[in-house]
Amino acid sequence: MRITLAKANQLLSNGEIVAVPTETVYGLAASLKFPSAINQIFKLKGRPSNNPLIVHVSHTEQILKYVKSVPRTFDNLSKAFWPGPLTLVLPVDVSLIPSNARADLSTAAFRIPSHPVARALLEETGPLVMPSANLSGRPSATKPDHIETDFGADFPILDGGSCGYGLESTILYLDEDQWKIVRCGSIPSEAFVNALGYHPEIDMASKNGPLCPGQLYRHYAPNAKLYLRTDSKNCKGVVIGFSDRNYSYAARVFSLGPSNQPDVVAEHLYAILRQLDEERIVEAEVDMDFPQHGLWRTIAERLQRAAKPPF
Ligand code: TXA
Ligand code: MG
Repeated sequence: MRITLAKANQLLSNGEIVAVPTETVYGLAASLKFPSAINQIFKLKGRPSNNPLIVHVSHTEQILKYVKSVPRTFDNLSKAFWPGPLTLVLPVDVSLIPSNARADLSTAAFRIPSHPVARALLEETGPLVMPSANLSGRPSATKPDHIETDFGADFPILDGGSCGYGLESTILYLDEDQWKIVRCGSIPSEAFVNALGYHPEIDMASKNGPLCPGQLYRHYAPNAKLYLRTDSKNCKGVVIGFSDRNYSYAARVFSLGPSNQPDVVAEHLYAILRQLDEERIVEAEVDMDFPQHGLWRTIAERLQRAAKPPF
């Protein structure tokens, strides 16, 4: 069900849940003022309670209110990337953020989205937690239709059209004065060098376990079994590939876009994974013959997770 901004504000102020567009993917929003609504989000998504949520705000000052100590590089990062697809994990005053949103950690994740609808809403409501608007484990939702598929036609959706980036925010975690990337995302690792003076290490599975609990889980996966192939010419059967390549052995090609435009590929990726399910396709081969740096790295990581067997 499509709703207006005023209705979304009203529902959230009553402790209800609403789907909200962001520039990355759609989110399922609940007000930070309603721990019961936050619990409801975990239930609705089937999300493990040890996987914390991102707090979304409209201004940096709102974040500073929660944070225990502000890292030296915070200003550089916030000026360079906010509003936009960056999430920062910071130590917080735990009395100010409901424990279920933090999964009982002493840190919380923060993001200032740039999507005009999300921003207009946040101005009205104040801080909102917003996990991606999909059933846990499924590909994230980048269009209102995807939300209806997962949560039903009556679910309240603030319609912002298709999400421009199509992949989640990049998450940085401060580990002993060095930022680490704990979730690859819409901002490639190389883009941080200017703001930080160094290339942040990508640390998605350190020896002590992941710094980002979400990395523990199977994610972004369609029902179809995906086979990842680097020998693009030999892809056969149902193929997820590129519009400028010829797949002589393919029975059917789902095109992600041109092989030299990772931003276009990122925008289409989840919609294509969801389309496989709509068409009840049981297996597909994915053309993985693309570079392993920049935004491609995030695309590859999402596909690798999507291809993991269920566990
Ligand atoms: O682009 C995005 O970030 C989207 C849109 C809606 O803003 N949101 C999103 O939320 O992707 P979600 O819940 O699907 O993913 C949040 C990730 C999870 O992997 C979670 O483990 C991690 O953020 N996270 C949250 N709080 C954390 C914390 N305190 N420490 C480490 N990781 C944290
Ligand atoms: Mg998610």
